Amino acid sequence: MTADKIKELVAQMTLEEKASMCSGADFWHTEAVERLGIPASMVSDGPHGLRKQDQEGDHLGVNESIKAVCFPAGCGTAASFNRELLNRMGEALGNECQAEGVSVILGPAVNIKRSPLCGRNFEYYSEDPLVASEMAGALIHGVQSKNVGTSIKHFLANNQETRRMSSDSRIDERTLHEIYLAAFEGAVKKEKPWTVMCSYNKINGTYAAENHKYLTETLRDKWGFDGYVMSDWGAVNSRVKDLQAGLDLEMPSSEGANDRLIKGAVESGELSEEVLDTAVERILNIVFRYEENRDRNAVFDKDQDHELARKVAEETIVLLKNDGVLPLSDKEEIAFIGKYAKKPRYQGGGSSHINSHKVTSALDAVQGMSSISYAQGFDDKEDKTDEALLAEAVETARKAKAAVIFAGLPDAFESEGFDRQHMRMPDCQNELIEQVAAVQPNTIVVLHNGSPVEMPWADKVKGILEAYLGGQAVGGAVCDILFGRVNPSAKLPETFPLKLEDNPSYLSYIGEGDMVEYREGIFVGYRYYDKKKMDVLFPFGYGLSYTTFAYDNLKVDKECMKDTDTMTVSVDVTNTGSMAGKEVVQLYVADKESTVIRPVKELRDFAKVKLAPGEKKTVTFTLDKRAFAYYSVKIHDWHVETGEFDIMIGQSSRDIVLTKTVTVESTVKLPFVYTTDTTMGDVMKDPEAWKLVQGFFKQGMFTEQNDNADSEVASEAISDEMNAAMALYQPLRGPVSFGGKVTMADVQALVDQLNALNESENNR
Ligand code: BGC
Repeated sequence: MTADKIKELVAQMTLEEKASMCSGADFWHTEAVERLGIPASMVSDGPHGLRKQDQEGDHLGVNESIKAVCFPAGCGTAASFNRELLNRMGEALGNECQAEGVSVILGPAVNIKRSPLCGRNFEYYSEDPLVASEMAGALIHGVQSKNVGTSIKHFLANNQETRRMSSDSRIDERTLHEIYLAAFEGAVKKEKPWTVMCSYNKINGTYAAENHKYLTETLRDKWGFDGYVMSDWGAVNSRVKDLQAGLDLEMPSSEGANDRLIKGAVESGELSEEVLDTAVERILNIVFRYEENRDRNAVFDKDQDHELARKVAEETIVLLKNDGVLPLSDKEEIAFIGKYAKKPRYQGGGSSHINSHKVTSALDAVQGMSSISYAQGFDDKEDKTDEALLAEAVETARKAKAAVIFAGLPDAFESEGFDRQHMRMPDCQNELIEQVAAVQPNTIVVLHNGSPVEMPWADKVKGILEAYLGGQAVGGAVCDILFGRVNPSAKLPETFPLKLEDNPSYLSYIGEGDMVEYREGIFVGYRYYDKKKMDVLFPFGYGLSYTTFAYDNLKVDKECMKDTDTMTVSVDVTNTGSMAGKEVVQLYVADKESTVIRPVKELRDFAKVKLAPGEKKTVTFTLDKRAFAYYSVKIHDWHVETGEFDIMIGQSSRDIVLTKTVTVESTVKLPFVYTTDTTMGDVMKDPEAWKLVQGFFKQGMFTEQNDNADSEVASEAISDEMNAAMALYQPLRGPVSFGGKVTMADVQALVDQLNALNESENNR
């Protein structure tokens, strides 16, 4: 329906009808207005499958939903670093929605993994905003190509579950832009999600739902978002204020209470009817976009999507360690140990919980292979060693050629609604791994978890596979990798620190009461570990393959560019091993010298390439200003400082294989205002200004001091270098205090002249 037609429709609606359009009809539907032919529209959770509730609704996954297909969760799909794959997964989800009459799937969820403790990390993508935004963008693209909407969530700065409905995320402007907003920005600008879901929490004192700055000024005015914003379930606190801030749809239904508030506010003049009309137009626009593009022939083929879920899972499993033990031979006796071999933990708890139509465990996947033995090893209902299970597992492992332990985090350890207490796995599982490794030299651990864990046994086992929460087909995918039918190609989208205390947010995570200060600032994840040169268990971007790759021929199309220009970077990648494989080529940029505090390097692009043995491909990237920029709070915009930058190609954030230095010239001069506190050093940066100052202090303090410092004692006490260094930090008003002839009024006059000069230079 055209914008004009929608406007006409809104003009025919009564005030009551318009007010009620702005909140759900029930848990999952928007309101219908039959007399005007406006249908109800259904939304359902996501993000890694369809959680459509036919019966009574709830937002925590308590009541049953229809049978559906559980794809790998965000923690895993991000590890694929494969946009094309996420796009395909999105297409499948979009098709499922069409078949089930769902207009918007509630995801993807892009919140930054600030700490390994966040209970919902399993749904989120990364500690890096580019990865989060690119993966989300690819999924959105796929879903929306089927004329079904997405709801990128939870906007904004919802990085913990503790007190999620009342906590106040206190974040400085630069950090917000470089890390937390950036996770949404690229996906919103490029892929135009139909809807955005605002989070429960406050951002710098204002609830997300009533935050005009982010819902309107940033999302709409700066990023061009043109869909509707909906609340997270129950995130509305002050309905009229929310509507004014840019929150269009309240979910779920407030049973009419908030509709009455809206109506009353329009009647009393507190709320302009135009604001209400605009919100209704935005909602109807999406309702009809779906309705008019219904695919009534769509079929939800669960078996077919299960196969796709397996394909996706294959690329989400990260090979973290391989001392020559993998791949396994299916001819040899292998012991599968651990409850998760039979009953994998493949998804997390809460609103994303899928009612899987079937689940393939690793044991299911090896059915018919007589060489596989199994022992449960542990139970995950409570963290307690079951001595009989442990003894049986050790015995089973001892007798085999190799043992694969399927371990990880139980549901009770990570979920929506609460945060993890620590970063450890259950003690009983750690003990099992230690004991099995003590009798079986070829021990491999397969982990099922949505967030990093400490691995005190890492040196004692020969192989580690991080399977994340791999969806309902995870068993088949894990076995394909174990037995070498698939070459692992995933990389960690987050750092695994050695211990929780190493994490940059450790000192302030979850905050004090409702106040959560993000004290680590921009130093989230590898940005921190790199800066501190800290050892980590496994770095960001890391993951092994059964083949090897060589990098060569790093080229740029220009070695110097203006910040208004773009630069093309290319690099050759060759598969130097004997197995076909996929490689994630990572491009980082480092500012070699900066007057602002910056990370050592930042991921600015990546690509996944498939290579047959011996095959070489050239991978090309295009970098623009943003790749070199930081967010300047002086101009409230992105800024590049003129100077040299390293373009680095890495196999991980800690394995940079090629580097090229380029120069970027800024076309923007940051505003600078002289004051009596401006230091001599800062004045010296502008030769014209410095000339003025030198002229002013004709009998200047520096020369005077040097002249007087002719005694040996004086020159020992303060060398010329020290004198010069100290002079750099002397404020312009300094000489006033040293008994010279200069007065404060003189200095102020000088400052005025400097500012006039500055202005004339800017206007030149
Ligand atoms: C979650 C959202 C979810 C919604 C609806 C909320 O509790 O935070 O992610 O989409 O419920 O189930």
